[in-house]
Amino acid sequence: MVEVKLQNIVKTFGETVALKGINLEIKHGELFTLLGPSGCGKTTTLRIIAGLEYPDTGKIYFGDEEVTYLPSHQKGAVLVFQNYALWPHMSVSDNIAYGLKIKKLPKDEVMRKVQWALELVKLKGFENRYPTQLSGGQQQRVAIARALVVEPKVLLLDEPLSNLDAKLRLEMRSEIRRIQRELGITVIYVTHDQEEAMAISDRIAVMNVGTVEQIGTPKDIYESPRTEFVASFMGKTNVVPAKIVERDGNHVAVEFENFHLDGLTYTGEGDRVVLVIRPERIRLKPGKNTVSLLGTVDLVEYYGFFIEVIGLFGETRLIARTISDKEVESLRPTKEVTFYIDRDDIIVLPKQQL
Ligand SMILES: Nc1ncnc2c1ncn2[C@@H]1O[C@H](COP(=O)(O)OP(=O)(O)O)[C@@H](O)[C@H]1O
Ligand SMILES: [Mg+2]
Repeated sequence: MVEVKLQNIVKTFGETVALKGINLEIKHGELFTLLGPSGCGKTTTLRIIAGLEYPDTGKIYFGDEEVTYLPSHQKGAVLVFQNYALWPHMSVSDNIAYGLKIKKLPKDEVMRKVQWALELVKLKGFENRYPTQLSGGQQQRVAIARALVVEPKVLLLDEPLSNLDAKLRLEMRSEIRRIQRELGITVIYVTHDQEEAMAISDRIAVMNVGTVEQIGTPKDIYESPRTEFVASFMGKTNVVPAKIVERDGNHVAVEFENFHLDGLTYTGEGDRVVLVIRPERIRLKPGKNTVSLLGTVDLVEYYGFFIEVIGLFGETRLIARTISDKEVESLRPTKEVTFYIDRDDIIVLPKQQL
């Protein structure tokens, strides 16, 4: 069941084309994330879904109903702003009750729903506090309770964790996921943090300058990026420019620096490519189907539960990650090292035009 559908949404602000034809289908009960760097159009997309902004062209559907030009209060999608936007002169319960009072619900029903929402976000006992008497995380919970109490069809969260410190971010992230699962509500979540997106989402749309580059599960997007941008945005990774020198159908051989790698797979066009190799896929021991690269050690970095070896291959730096102390024991800067990579772990993608 498709809950929210965006069809060819275009939005310009003066000279700026903020959205260049966005297509999305978000399923009922899904936690769907818009992920991308600052300025790529995430907030604009949310504001258009919420009815706080209208597109130049394109359509929005909630279920089978077209809602493109419905004003926000009729739309059934509630946006939680990045800065929470709580009313400072109202207590926690009055903040949460606000949307219900506007709807003129009977007083006892308002009370009951406010209690329900307080319990949901674990803020019982805080009813009479004012926003300034709350921590960042608690304010965040009030903002979420205030959005949920009106029982929206869709909850929209714009970078909800960006004002919290690292520890609280992790806690609230799980908390949002718990609430979403408990209510089975559709959530559209916005972040520029790929790790957060991976951890929380059912599916992710990766955005880049007003377009959607790829939609998929966290695993899809991490393991099978379809563009150079997506590959390099999804965490620390090796992206090596290379040239195709032989091709037989989808089988190619490529060159970078003085290295010649054969037996790779490429389905794209042109001979300017990048090789995408995840650090954890580079090994320090040979395997059955591996290519080998002989270089020198630049650095060995200890991160506790894993270790990174940065190798220099001509001018190209590659990061390998391992969890084995033994494997790196003998490695010292400037000494020789061989990196082994399974051919299946080298993703060949078209070089992105700048
Ligand atoms: N009200 C506005 N007036 C002019 N330009 C805007 C406005 N809102 C957004 N933009 C521009 O649209 C683009 C997308 O912005 P936004 O959706 O806020 O990106 P994000 O949330 O991904 O950081 C940016 O280039 C931004 O400067
Ligand atoms: Mg934004």
